[in-house]
Amino acid sequence: MEAQRIPVGYQDLRQTMGTGARISPRLFDTNGLARREDSRRNESARVHIPYCVRSSARGRRMSAHASRHISVLGREAVNYLAPRAGGIYVDATFGAGGYSRAILDVADTRVIGIDRDRTAILGGFDLVDGSDGRLTLVEDRFSHLADVCAAQGLDAVDGVVMDVGVSSMQLDQAERGFSFRSSGPLDMRMGQSGPTAADVVAKASERELADIIYIFGEERHSRGVARAIVAARKEAPITTTEALADIVARVVRAKPNEIHPATRTFQALRIFVNEELDELHQALAASERVLKPGGRLVVVSFHSLEDRIVKNFLAERGKVSAGSRHLPEVAQAAPSFTILTKRPVTPGEAETAANPRARSAKLRAAERTAAPVHGAEALPSWPRLADVMRGS
Ligand SMILES: C[S@@+](CC[C@H](N)C(=O)[O-])C[C@H]1O[C@@H](n2cnc3c(N)ncnc32)[C@H](O)[C@@H]1O
Repeated sequence: MEAQRIPVGYQDLRQTMGTGARISPRLFDTNGLARREDSRRNESARVHIPYCVRSSARGRRMSAHASRHISVLGREAVNYLAPRAGGIYVDATFGAGGYSRAILDVADTRVIGIDRDRTAILGGFDLVDGSDGRLTLVEDRFSHLADVCAAQGLDAVDGVVMDVGVSSMQLDQAERGFSFRSSGPLDMRMGQSGPTAADVVAKASERELADIIYIFGEERHSRGVARAIVAARKEAPITTTEALADIVARVVRAKPNEIHPATRTFQALRIFVNEELDELHQALAASERVLKPGGRLVVVSFHSLEDRIVKNFLAERGKVSAGSRHLPEVAQAAPSFTILTKRPVTPGEAETAANPRARSAKLRAAERTAAPVHGAEALPSWPRLADVMRGS
């Protein structure tokens, strides 16, 4: 089957890169032949997999892969996105394709699906095959979504939807190293490149580890956990999820009915390794640039750190931004978004009963106005992966 064939040279893409490594992404044409393109960008590998869909593929059942991840707030997300016939949409977190599938159900829509996880992109080939050429999958970070659209010849789109965080496929595969519930390598990367959680645990100073665990995990015992990690790694490298969970459990005592003691430390390392909060900041700003007036932005997040970023972004973009006191010549900016969700939308009881992973989800949505983009704010000054790995 055309769309399931792994393109020639795919194995060559499995290269491990340190942060900031230069890469030469390969683009694949419809015959599966690799073309090498030079890149001067410092980023994760990008694989663009455009497929010509044969008419015989129409109507074929969509990917079996999808059954492994239950879309969270899927109906609500697509209702707020309000896809219209002929519209162009970015599904910035393709995952198992649940949102993309619902958008493609609307006649003549086109979807650009982005995911940094190559296995998610490969899992979407059936959906591409059945989409009549309307779905394009791109392996990239969603912070690059404006560049991804530009590479497709699109200056502006009708909607951007993001369902941030990890997928069930990532969580449930022990070898991806996301879960303290099963033993696996301490990896935690959503993509296939860059430093792993084991690399961070080996390299970061005690102070950096404490900051990472406190800021990204909101762990009260962050200093004790960092101290225990540094003591343990002097004895032996910490390379498995089980080893790290045991070290944390010796410091953080869980009371009955509380979450597993390692939950917050694992969350912190996952966010840090994948630079998740910087990604979200940058993707929101990129959405502001690519959305047409009237275009919709819909974001589903899973914890308070993410939701706060979305909430603050929309609150700032939803009001007239004051001109600078220091630069009075800078004009006030009109609101670039109209907020559609005064309060976040959360899953109902039926959804959380059927899918407990949905319980902390929050959806926020807004509509782009015709006002110019607001200036991008500086990113918060929290620890950065590149600095920690450089040892600076
Ligand atoms: C919760 S799942 C999305 C599920 C999807 N909405 C569905 O219905 O199947 C999140 C996906 O986003 C991807 N992801 C997370 N952060 C990303 C980023 N910064 N850039 C690109 N993809 C990202 C993950 O790899 C994962 O596959």
